[in-house]
Amino acid sequence: MSHGDNVYFTRILLKVRDERGLDFSGYREAILRRRVMMRARLAKKGTFESYFSLLISSHDEMDRLIDALTINVTEFFRDQRVFDAIEERVIPAIVQKKKTAKGIRAWSCGCSSGEEAYSVLMLIAEYLGPKFSHYGVKIYATDIDKASLAKARSGIYETLQFKNMANRRKLLIDKYFYDTGNRKFRIREEWPSFVDFIYHDVSAELPFENLDMITCRNMLIYFDRALQEDVMKKFHSALNPGGFLVLGNVESLGVGVRDKFEEFDRASRIYVKK
Ligand SMILES: C[S@@+](CC[C@H](N)C(=O)[O-])C[C@H]1O[C@@H](n2cnc3c(N)ncnc32)[C@H](O)[C@@H]1O
Repeated sequence: MSHGDNVYFTRILLKVRDERGLDFSGYREAILRRRVMMRARLAKKGTFESYFSLLISSHDEMDRLIDALTINVTEFFRDQRVFDAIEERVIPAIVQKKKTAKGIRAWSCGCSSGEEAYSVLMLIAEYLGPKFSHYGVKIYATDIDKASLAKARSGIYETLQFKNMANRRKLLIDKYFYDTGNRKFRIREEWPSFVDFIYHDVSAELPFENLDMITCRNMLIYFDRALQEDVMKKFHSALNPGGFLVLGNVESLGVGVRDKFEEFDRASRIYVKK
């Protein structure tokens, strides 16, 4: 990689920041480079310099680049074992504590198009059954990718997004969604009011407090260590004592917060705030 390419790589990221307000400075550089290179190749540009020229003149290419940089793959109940643990151990523990103080508050951070938030909501609703409406359930779901948030707010999902659901959970599809045709399902109208989809960059100020659970899965891997630590400290202060933090399968607590959480389920990367 030539010095010139490094200069243009930096310029590309600055352009993204200035034009769209997305600051990728705390992200792992190797991943960003690969993503920009992939876009440049697809746009048939051989250098970061020529790709930068394209970016200046093309809004569409800027959209495509942001799509590539935010990496928003997701699905319902992504990683069965983790959602089994949330269903069987985390939700009952949260509800148990709510005997006196009601209001179950969860945050799906880096929610992409909302599958994770709705997966959690379905499990809470299933567990509480007819008592659901007494518990003041609210899930905040945040992301920096506006296109993904728009999809989440539409509540419309392709069948592909349900493909890895365990068979025993497949009945949730008909219970919580209706078939709109064209291999698409829409969340039934009684559910969206329990999930707020909000544009929020996790490196900015903390927007929530008194949370019972934070799911932040498959996002921190893209951050450098300093940003990971900063975000995990924020999660710690946003949680109630005894609140749960659920990370992705290849993510773990940073050294700065390790002594502030207890391991609840090592294999599923679930931790409890001390
Ligand atoms: C791979 S998806 C993970 C979706 C879901 N949590 C899951 O595990 O299936 C990562 C998401 O994190 C979002 N993201 C990246 N940086 C972010 C930031 N600084 N603040 C909030 N969301 C961010 C991306 O836009 C993307 O939608």
